[in-house]
Amino acid sequence: MANLKINPGNKKSKINREIYGHFSEHLGRCIYEGLYVGEHSPIPNVNGMRQDVVEALRNIRIPVLRWPGGCFADEYHWEDGIGPKEKRKKMINTHWGGVIEDNSFGTHEFMELCRQLGCEPYINGNLGSGTVQEMQNWVEYITFEGISPMADLRRRNGREEAWHLKYFAIGNENWGCGGNMRAEFYADQFRRYATYVRNYGSNRIYKVACGPNSGDYNWTETLMKIAGKYMDGLSLHHYTVPGDWEYKGSATQFTERDFYITMKKSLYMDELVREHSKIMDQYDPERRVGLVVDEWGTWYDVEPGTNPGFLYQQNTMRDALVAAIHLNIFNQHSGRVVMANLAQTANVLQSVVLTEGPRMVLTPTYHVFDLYKEHQDAFLVESTLRTAVVGIDEAIVPHVHQSVSMDEKGRIHITLCNLSADSGVNLSVEVDDRRITRAEGRVLTGAIQDHNTFDEPDRVKPVAFKDFKFNGKGLDLVLPPTSVLALTVD
Ligand code: AHR
Repeated sequence: MANLKINPGNKKSKINREIYGHFSEHLGRCIYEGLYVGEHSPIPNVNGMRQDVVEALRNIRIPVLRWPGGCFADEYHWEDGIGPKEKRKKMINTHWGGVIEDNSFGTHEFMELCRQLGCEPYINGNLGSGTVQEMQNWVEYITFEGISPMADLRRRNGREEAWHLKYFAIGNENWGCGGNMRAEFYADQFRRYATYVRNYGSNRIYKVACGPNSGDYNWTETLMKIAGKYMDGLSLHHYTVPGDWEYKGSATQFTERDFYITMKKSLYMDELVREHSKIMDQYDPERRVGLVVDEWGTWYDVEPGTNPGFLYQQNTMRDALVAAIHLNIFNQHSGRVVMANLAQTANVLQSVVLTEGPRMVLTPTYHVFDLYKEHQDAFLVESTLRTAVVGIDEAIVPHVHQSVSMDEKGRIHITLCNLSADSGVNLSVEVDDRRITRAEGRVLTGAIQDHNTFDEPDRVKPVAFKDFKFNGKGLDLVLPPTSVLALTVD
């Protein structure tokens, strides 16, 4: 038996819709095939963007999309990706499979994709191998309205008006693939590059500094100390890997033990956010600088027979729970976490969609984003959960995990997940200031390894939730094993 008490009188931070963001890199089949098929493709597209995927992402109200990497970002030279496509330079994607990158998807295409998706673009600049001038020019090319070499070049390439661009990151993983820098060195480099990332006209750039790798607290401390006042956001990257980096484990063939280990490792995100926030609080008590978790998600061994450099993996109910746990955690810390971007949108790591030629499959993770979308821009409210624990010796986790928000109409949105592989749980819900008289919900449930395939695309999908009854004041409900529930109550 578990119990959830909600106190809507204690309205906390706003849950920025950007917490529900995504990430797309020139990696494997994410951009090419997954999002962009080109104007001449037989796959239905508008200006080259595949419409099944665009429609699916619009349906989950994708708020922001990060591009072009990842590690790719610090090797990307944006001028190679503008102008007539037949004249664009070809390059080797050294990080990801050594394949030819023909640069047919560049700045104009990315901005067009964001237009079709109705989302904010988030561009990651190249600090690792690019120059200050190159970064400065990119921002001028995109955002400057007046007469200038870069704005004129943009016009010659067919785009008259400047674009609106808010989010811009200055380097990616500069402690690793982005140049193997020490924190002190990067902090100084950040200050230098950030100086030339200008605000033109009314466009205001939110500058994101490269933040720590998982639990590297020294990186956060050093960055905040040396460069805190020059940044708007600090990124954090952390992946959930059930095994180790050499043998990560299969996406679909795993035991109950692997399942609980994965749950436990997902919950580690809570500690990471708390500990990095504590350090940030020392330098930024007003919480002006946002924590931007711009890479998160599961990372398994690639699907057998696929290119190891393409990071293609399936996605099961286990991934759905990983997503639900992370989104609950980000909601709970929305006073500091301003954005998060799941890695990666299509065909790479914990994707929301998988594609094969003209076919598309929505993954269990996709459905979690669909269930959670009512939290976007709502306010986190106080909630207290009493729950037992489940799991195995080395991986004991709470039976239930939750977050609760209230929207501007006063409706309360509750998201709950049951982390047990095999036992349901009875749960009562009470709201301090009201009697619950209306409730509506959808639930996603299945066995831990259940997933969708191109031949069976609807094996895992949300259904209406009926297993509740009003008890005079609140609600009594039964949460099935391995499930994610989104419930709206009045
Ligand atoms: O998402 C895949 C890779 O993971 C990214 O390119 C990099 O930033 C991270 O190490």
